[in-house]
Amino acid sequence: MKSILLLMGPNLNLLGEREPEIYGSASMQDHIECAERVANEFGYELVHFQSNNEGDLVNQIQNARGKHVGIIINPGALTHYGWSIHDALSAYEGVIIEMHLSNPNQRESWRHTSVVAPVADGSIIGFGIQGYELSIRAFHQIIGNDD
Ligand code: DQA
Repeated sequence: MKSILLLMGPNLNLLGEREPEIYGSASMQDHIECAERVANEFGYELVHFQSNNEGDLVNQIQNARGKHVGIIINPGALTHYGWSIHDALSAYEGVIIEMHLSNPNQRESWRHTSVVAPVADGSIIGFGIQGYELSIRAFHQIIGNDD
């Protein structure tokens, strides 16, 4: 079974408790289960990893090479300045979807820049937990076209 790596960056482990008016009331586990369900529906296995450390995320991206057919990444605040994540993703050959629960473009100006967007195939932002379904559908369409 082809697998997708779902990567989450700093503070996403606090989903459900952290600013629920922005990120919703679902916990990280709820998010993972939702993503897993949709991935399985489309015939993919979902592997999840969350870390508050940039280097751990870089290691996961490096290890994904030749292993996972795609990465869905919500890098949290690293989105806006995590150049090592940008570089690791540049060296990854599979499909990359950047995903955000909120729409950073509606928020503080420092959130308007994404260093990940230029190396992603596309970005899904602002749709909350529904973003996993949208990401996996988009992902499947790209992979499907590759087959
Ligand atoms: C986020 C948006 C980022 O600006 C923020 O730092 C996060 C979450 C989102 O999913 O909306 O941690 O990536």
